[in-house]
Amino acid sequence: MSLLDKLEWRYATKKFDSTKKIPADQLNQVLEAIRLAPSSYGLQQFRLLVVSDHAIREKLAAAAWNQPQLLEASHVLVFAAETKLDTAFVDANIELTAKVRNIGTETLAGWKNMIGDGIKLRSNGDVLVHWAQKQAYIGLGIAISVAAELGLDSCPMEGFDPEEFDQILGLKEKNLTATVILPVGYRSEDDGYIQLAKVRRPADEFFIAY
Ligand SMILES: Cc1cc2nc3c(=O)[nH]c(=O)nc-3n(C[C@H](O)[C@H](O)[C@H](O)COP(=O)(O)O)c2cc1C
Repeated sequence: MSLLDKLEWRYATKKFDSTKKIPADQLNQVLEAIRLAPSSYGLQQFRLLVVSDHAIREKLAAAAWNQPQLLEASHVLVFAAETKLDTAFVDANIELTAKVRNIGTETLAGWKNMIGDGIKLRSNGDVLVHWAQKQAYIGLGIAISVAAELGLDSCPMEGFDPEEFDQILGLKEKNLTATVILPVGYRSEDDGYIQLAKVRRPADEFFIAY
């Protein structure tokens, strides 16, 4: 199957087969793909929580209108945006870059200023958190595609109460906020949604050529 065939094959899975668990090496491939996601200035303004614990998932399900994916999927991935993009956060990124590239931090002074300006530009109200959340969605898109490539099912979900998730997962203390989630696993063959034709706007009503 080509990647396009796999994107056609995938669907937002409502009913997972709770008896099937994703092998560690495949789960790690999905996680690594998310870690490799690009982000503005390379800041990786989000973290990924990998939830397998059943007791925690029961609490999360209650905060997500009891959608069954939270309990039945093999794992639940929670994309959490950084809420404190301060000087210390930028400094840590600069230090990491200097270390990985084996250069002095002073050579990155101009770049650091540019990041600072980018952050200042977005410092009104919730703009900075929304910016971080957008980066999380890039990770989400990559995760859905890589999961499909590996023959894994998933369901992107915004249908949950972020404040309750933050509380259950202790995210506030970590300067994070739950943004979007992705239960991953294997479809249950009796999920009625498998049969539904994919609905997308026709190409001529979607693409705009200039
Ligand atoms: C950001 C986002 C949030 C979504 N939230 C939910 C959700 O809370 N529950 C759910 O069952 N499906 C959710 N969906 C799935 C969409 O309804 C689904 O992707 C869309 O109808 C297209 O269908 P397909 O993914 O099966 O092709 C969400 C999808 C996205 C991308």
